[in-house]
Amino acid sequence: MLSVQQSILQEVHLTHLIARNIKFFVKRDDLIHSEISGNKWRKLKYSILHAEQQKFEGILTFGGAFSNHLVATAAVCQMKNLQSIGIVRGEELTKDSNDTLKRCAQYGMELHFVSREDYAFRNERMYQEELTTKFPSMYIVPEGGANYWGIVGCSEILSETTNDYDLVIVAQGTTTTSAGLLMSLPEKSTLWTVPVLKGFNALAEMKTLYGYAAFDAETISDWLSKIEVLDNYHFGGYGKYTADLLDFIESFYKETKIPLDPVYTAKAMFALFKEIEQRDIKNKRILFVHTGGIQGAKSIFEKEKRLFSNNPF
Ligand SMILES: Cc1ncc(COP(=O)(O)O)c(C=O)c1O
Repeated sequence: MLSVQQSILQEVHLTHLIARNIKFFVKRDDLIHSEISGNKWRKLKYSILHAEQQKFEGILTFGGAFSNHLVATAAVCQMKNLQSIGIVRGEELTKDSNDTLKRCAQYGMELHFVSREDYAFRNERMYQEELTTKFPSMYIVPEGGANYWGIVGCSEILSETTNDYDLVIVAQGTTTTSAGLLMSLPEKSTLWTVPVLKGFNALAEMKTLYGYAAFDAETISDWLSKIEVLDNYHFGGYGKYTADLLDFIESFYKETKIPLDPVYTAKAMFALFKEIEQRDIKNKRILFVHTGGIQGAKSIFEKEKRLFSNNPF
């Protein structure tokens, strides 16, 4: 097993939370590894182990042009002497189209660029059968590591904490991380999730994912009763952000020295502080799960010419 150390649990002292008698902790999965950071490692860990145990020669997976998951898969496969194949959305792309794809290629990933129409079939049985026939020695992992093993990997996050929080909060994309957290959440805790996609039906997505991972309906509805989805903090949708959000990242970093990314973690942290204020929350223990994404943030801050002093990107 690749050795990646347990991530830090950091207590963060912020005046506006201390005033409300809120004890605030951040699970720093962003510090797990520079390339295989945050939930990427959690989601890949057991798929890699499974591939090794079942004697597959590598991993085949899917992603968009800027997919952190593709880079993480390529990096971990190189470390483990496994092959990697990436099916990339966009037939017009090449391995030199951007930094993400360049890094995938540098880690030895074989990239296959497919049309958006073909990519839409990535989870269909027929398409997967075709891929299995074409690449029989590869273990197929869905986009974003969203499989049973991904959920299991994410269910370990809370076991590295005191797991006694009133509230745990996390950003949501494929819902794999939140699905794992929910499984290990104690009765008295609530999970808030912040989808970064607009018009995203998080509960339906989670049901599908749990169902696909073959959990039974009663257990699923038990888990889902502990969740509240905050779906007003997508800032316009996936990859969209505002100047306010970038200001928030800058001021949060100045206060805490914790970097956030504009695609996922900043939206969740912003949502948390807004909701605490609006609901007048007091006397709670709160855990924020920092899922990483800092690699991708660099290019956004460069593009926006927002590189502040001592910035982390
Ligand atoms: C940095 C970061 N945070 C959060 C998420 C969302 O996690 P999930 O897709 O498991 O819901 C992602 C996407 O994988 C991500 O890259």
